[in-house]
Amino acid sequence: MKLVTIIGARPQFIKAEPFSRMFRKENEEVLVHTGQHYDANMSDVFFEELGLPKPDYHLEVGSGSHGLQTGRMLEKIEEIILKELPDGLLVYGDTNSTLAGALAASKLHIPVFHVEAGLRSYNKLMPEEQNRIVTDHLSDLLLCPTQTAVDNLEKEGITAGVFNTGDIMYDAVQRNIEISKNRYSDGAWLDELRDEGGTIPSLKEKEYYLATIHRAENTDDDTKLREIFSAFEKMDKPVLIPLHPRTRKRIDELNIQLNNVTIIKPAGYLLMLYLTANAFMVVTDSGGLQKEAFFLKTPCTTLRDQTEWVETLENGWNSLSPIDVKTILRTVSRELLCVQHPQPRLFGDGNAAEHICQILLKGGE
Ligand code: UD1
Repeated sequence: MKLVTIIGARPQFIKAEPFSRMFRKENEEVLVHTGQHYDANMSDVFFEELGLPKPDYHLEVGSGSHGLQTGRMLEKIEEIILKELPDGLLVYGDTNSTLAGALAASKLHIPVFHVEAGLRSYNKLMPEEQNRIVTDHLSDLLLCPTQTAVDNLEKEGITAGVFNTGDIMYDAVQRNIEISKNRYSDGAWLDELRDEGGTIPSLKEKEYYLATIHRAENTDDDTKLREIFSAFEKMDKPVLIPLHPRTRKRIDELNIQLNNVTIIKPAGYLLMLYLTANAFMVVTDSGGLQKEAFFLKTPCTTLRDQTEWVETLENGWNSLSPIDVKTILRTVSRELLCVQHPQPRLFGDGNAAEHICQILLKGGE
C-alpha cells in the first residue's frame, strides 16, 4: 500500500512516529511536512528525539491567517497527490494541516484516513472543531481513539468506516517514558531548565505546577490571558511554563508581569514527558497534554470550558476551569481523590498503531 501522510504541528509529529514505524515495515509512506510549525524547538527536536523519518516533502507554509495557511497547503498537497498517486492519504488530529490534507485528497477522490477522528468540543468557534468536523465528514476511514469519539460520529450519522483503535498518543507515551526517565532523572531535568545566565530554577519533584497555554481562545483574549497569569502568581507552588511562541508574543504585547513562574522555551517530547510525570499537577489548555497527564497519573486542571477528552474527567483526574482567578485557584486546590482510584482503560491497549495498520491494509473491512 502507498500512503501520503500529512503532518505539520507538534502533536502530529508525536502521533506519526508509532504508525510510521509500523506501516513502513511492509508498505510505502510518503511523508509531507506542511511547515505549519517551523521553529527548531517546535519541529526538528521531535524528529531527532523520536527518530521520525525525514519528510519526503517540506511545504514551508509557515504562519499566516487560517485561510492563507490552509490555502497554501491545499495547493501544494494537491500537486503532491497528483504526482505520487497514493492509495490513500492519512491525516492526524485537528489542525489546519489536517483540514488541508483531507480536502485536497477528497477533491481528487483519494480515500482519506483520519487518525483521532470523532472528537468534539461542541464549540464551533474553535478552529480545531471546524477542522475536525469537516475532516470527519470527508473521511473514508475514521480511526477513533475512544468509544466517546465513535458515539459522537454516530450522532452525526457517520457509522461506516468507523473503528475504535485506542489512542496513538498512549502508544507514544508507553514507548518513550522509560527513555525519558533514564535521560532526565537524578537532577538532569533541572540542568535542562538552566536559564541563559546558567541559573537552575529552584524546583523540586512533585512540588511544581507544569503549565502550557497556547489556544487562541485564551491567548487572543486579553482579559483571559491576564487572569491566567494572575492566578499563576497566587498559586501555592511555583509554575513552570514551556512557552509557545504565540503566547510569548502576547505576554510581551500586553506587558503581563510574570511572578511565581519559570518560563522556558518549548520543551521537546522526552523532557515534556519527564516534567509531566513529575509535576504536582498539570495546568493547561492543550488537548494532548491533558491525556499525557492522565497516562502518567498526574492530576490536571484544564483552562477551558469544554474538553474533547471527557474520559479524563472521571474521578477528577482532570477538572475544567473557566478562566477567572478565583475559579482557577479553587480548581487547582481541589481534593485529589483521583490518586486513590485505579484508572480504567479508556484509551485502548497501547497498540493503536498496529490496529490502524491492520484496518488500512484490509481496506476497512
Ligand atoms: C496549532 C493547532 C492547534 C494545536 C497546536 C499544537 C491549528 C488551527 N491549531 O496551534 O490545534 O494544538 O498547533 O501546538 O492548526 N509560531 C512560531 N513558530 C512556530 C509555530 C508557530 O513562532 O514554529 C507562532 C506564529 O506566530 C504563529 C502562531 O505561533 O502565527 C500560531 O501558530 P499556528 O501553527 O498557526 O497555531 P498554533 O497556535 O501552534
